[in-house]
Amino acid sequence: MSSLFQNVQSCDVRQLGINPNHWYVVARSSEVTNKPKSVVIWQQEIALYRDSTGKIHALEDRCPHRQVKLSHGQVMGNELECAYHGWRFNSLGECAAVPYLAANQKLPNCQIRHYPVKEQDGFIWLFPGNEALSVEPLGLPEWDHLNYIATVSVINCHAHYSYLIENLMDMYHGHLHQDLQAWAEASLQDIDEDANRVDAHYIAQSYYKIDKIWSISQLFFPSLRRLHPEPLDVSYVYPHWVSTLGKDFKIYCLLCPVNETQTKAYLIHFTSLNAFWRLHKLPIGFRQFVKDSLFGAAQKLLDGLVVQDVKMIEEEQQAYLQNPQRRNYELNRALVSVQRLMRNQVERLG
Ligand code: FES
Ligand SMILES: [Fe+2]
Repeated sequence: MSSLFQNVQSCDVRQLGINPNHWYVVARSSEVTNKPKSVVIWQQEIALYRDSTGKIHALEDRCPHRQVKLSHGQVMGNELECAYHGWRFNSLGECAAVPYLAANQKLPNCQIRHYPVKEQDGFIWLFPGNEALSVEPLGLPEWDHLNYIATVSVINCHAHYSYLIENLMDMYHGHLHQDLQAWAEASLQDIDEDANRVDAHYIAQSYYKIDKIWSISQLFFPSLRRLHPEPLDVSYVYPHWVSTLGKDFKIYCLLCPVNETQTKAYLIHFTSLNAFWRLHKLPIGFRQFVKDSLFGAAQKLLDGLVVQDVKMIEEEQQAYLQNPQRRNYELNRALVSVQRLMRNQVERLG
C-alpha cells in the first residue's frame, strides 16, 4: 500500500490554466435565443446570439467603439447591435453599420474576435483556441436517442476546475452521498491513460437495474435495492468527464471553467430504457413523447448530489487559498493520473 501513498504537490494544479484547443460547453441550447447571452470561458467574456435563421454566433463581448458589453444590445437580422450608439457587428466581428455615419465617412475599420461555435446534442460548444487545431467536440449520442431519459443539473462552484474533476474521478467519495448514490463499495481495478484521457475502471455494488417500470423507485426506497456487482468506469476526456455504471446508467459532466476560482459545468444523467423492448415497438412519435415527458425525472436526485459535492469542492478551494502550502495526502492513484493529464495539457502549449 505504501507505494500508492502519494504526496501530491497541489500548488501547481490549483493555478493551472486551461488548454484552449478543445471544445468547451458554454450554454444549453435552450438558453440562447435572439436576445444576446453573456457567457465567460476562462476570463474571456463572450456574447452568444441566435440569428434570424436560428444559427448561433459567438463574439467577444465588447463593443470596440467605447468598450461596453455587446450583450446589452439586440440582434438585428444576422447582426448584433450595440445598446449604446447602435453600431452593428456581423458574425465575423466586423463593424457592419453605424446609424449616424455621414455620407463622407467610411465604416470604422474595427474588428472584434469571433469564436467557432456549434450547437450539438442540446448544448452550445465553443472553441476558444487556435482554429487550425480544431478537433470534433465530444458527442452525447444519448441526447437524441429515444431510449434514453435525460436530466440536466447545472454546477456553479467557486473552485478551480481541478477540484471538480478530482471529485468526479474519485469514486471513493460515495461516502458523502450515502442514500443518494446508485452504487456502493467502489474499488479501483486499473487505469488507462494517454495524452488526452484517463480511464479509471472501478468495480462497484450497484443498487439498481432498470428493467421494471418501477426500477427507479429503488433509488428512493433502500429496502427495494438488490446489490449486484457492476463495472463503474469514469473517464476524464479532457476537458470533460464521462461515467458509465453497468448498462443502465451514463453521466456526463461538460465543463466551462470560468476563471482560477470559478467553474461552471453541466451534469447530464441518462437512464436507459433499453430493457423495455415492448416500448421500442411503439410509434416513434409516442416514444418521443415518453422521452420528453420523463425529461428531468432524476432532477431532485442529481441536484442533491451536486449540492453535496459543491460544498466539499468549495471548501477545498477556500482551504487552499488560506494555506496554499499545505499538502494533500492522496491514496487514489487515479487522481495522480488526472493531475498529470491536466498539467500535460497546459504544458504542451509551451
Ligand atoms: S459603445 Fe457601442 S456603439 Fe458606442
Ligand atoms: Fe459526488
